[in-house]
Parts: sequence; structure tokens; C-alpha cells
Amino acid sequence: MKVLGGPASQLLGSRVAREIGCALAVVEFKKFPDGELYLRIAEELDGDTLIVQSTTTNDDIIYLLQLIDAASDGYLRAVIPYFGYARQDKRFKLGEPISARALARTINVDEAYVVNIHDPASLDHFQLRSGKKAANLSAAGLVGTYLKSMGLSSPLLIAPDEGATALVRDVAHAMGCEFDVLVKKRVTSEHVEIQPKTVDVDERDLVIVDDMISTGGTMAEAIRLLRGQGARQVHVACIHPVLSLNARLRLYGAGVDSIIATDTIEKAESSITVAPLIKQGAGL
Ligand code: R5P
Repeated sequence: MKVLGGPASQLLGSRVAREIGCALAVVEFKKFPDGELYLRIAEELDGDTLIVQSTTTNDDIIYLLQLIDAASDGYLRAVIPYFGYARQDKRFKLGEPISARALARTINVDEAYVVNIHDPASLDHFQLRSGKKAANLSAAGLVGTYLKSMGLSSPLLIAPDEGATALVRDVAHAMGCEFDVLVKKRVTSEHVEIQPKTVDVDERDLVIVDDMISTGGTMAEAIRLLRGQGARQVHVACIHPVLSLNARLRLYGAGVDSIIATDTIEKAESSITVAPLIKQGAGL
């Protein structure tokens, strides 16, 4: 088997290849002057291929489709660690597409894996050529193990909204610590309100955990609230560090101590690799 690290997942693809002990194929790619994308697998494949490519941007989606087509002759597994558009998983307003479904239906492979997809119900939209079901791998255990190694004082995990509860519960379980849940109301795509809630944070180190940080609006509100209640340290952790626009400035401006994330999206904050999870989850 060969691993194809897509343009968006070069580090993680390399780590997965090393983790499972197989060759990493070199992929060449470029953008034409008109904006169209070109990609070429620069060596022969031996029939069994694992693609690793997150779809954070629209270009990443095109590259993924090109990789799938270029490698489609043999048995094909696709790992899409961050599956973009997963938050548009229903029609919130009349006339909207279910973007998660539209994209899932384009993934023409034998096995597909995602990591902490926004809502696992989206897995039902994949129509894999083997008839198998797409799988959601959870990095909660890896995040919990990493947070445990930080030596935090009387740690408490915080879910910034009810949607993050299951993830935070799993991270807390791996860490062996308590957690609490805040209640969030989204005002615009960049601004949220978090309902005031008194959390016992005295002399405690907090980690606010969510599936993703996009604009940082959710985390910034939660950081301010908890800082105001006297927490000793406030860190944020997420699976997917989208970190769009001025997210970092918003987080540090709100008083965060550090940002911790996995390499489903490759950013400076990606200190936890999900490569072992992919090896185990895909049974390789
Ligand atoms: C929303 O349901 C997600 O779980 C995240 O809470 C959200 O996407 C974070 O977005 P932002 O960083 O823009 O507040």
C-alpha cells in the first residue's frame, strides 16, 4: 500500500505513512493562471492506496477529487481528517443546500474516514463504492492524554456549548478530570453570546474544548467569562484549528494562555498528531 499525502495534509500524510510503515508517494500540484488546479502522482501506485487530505478550503476539495480520480484503479481508502462544510448539515433556511451531503456524495472510494466530524449523522450521506459505511474517528483520547501531560493544577474542562458536551466528556474521561458545560447563542457567524454561569474556577486551570475553532468568537466569549471568574490559567483545545481571519488575536486578546490542537489541519498550534488514530481506526 502507498499513502498519498494531499496538498493540505502533507505532514499528517507523512506521519501516517511512517506510523503504518508503508511508502509515501510524492504528489505534485500547482495552480494554473486561470485559477484551475493541477495535480499528478509522481510515481506508480501498487493497487492499494490511502489518501490523506483535509478539505479546509475549496481548493482542498478539488485536490481531493483529483487525487481520488488519479488513484481510482485500485482499492482506495480516503482519510479526510477535517471535512469542510460539515456544519451545513441541514437546511437552516428554505432554499439552502445540505452542503455536507453534496460533498459526501462526491467521495467515490472504497473506505472513507473522517475525524470528529461536526455531526456523525453526516456519515450517512457518503455513498462508498464498496457499500461500506464511512467512519468517524474520535481524537478525544489523544487530546485527553496530551492535556494530562501538561501538569495542570486542579484541571477542569469546559464545553463552550451543549453541542461540545459529548466531546468534552470523552476528553475529560481520558484525562480523569471533571467538566462543565456553558450555554451559547450564536448572534452572527462571527459573534456569539455565552450565558453567564458561575463555574467553580478558584485556583483551577481550565481548558475550554470544542470540535473546532473557526473565527474564535465562541472561545473568546468563554475565555472572558471564565477569566472574569478568577481562573488560574485558561487554555483552549480543539480537534480542528481552522483559525480563520483574526482568530488568534481574538483568543490572545481575550486572555488565553495557549491554543492546543491536532494536525487534522496543519497549523503552528497542531501539537497533537492523529496519525496513530488513523492507523488504528482504519485497521492498518
Ligand atoms: C459550532 O457548532 C462548532 O462546534 C464550534 O463551536 C464553532 O464552529 C466555532 O466557531 P467560531 O470559532 O467561529 O466561534
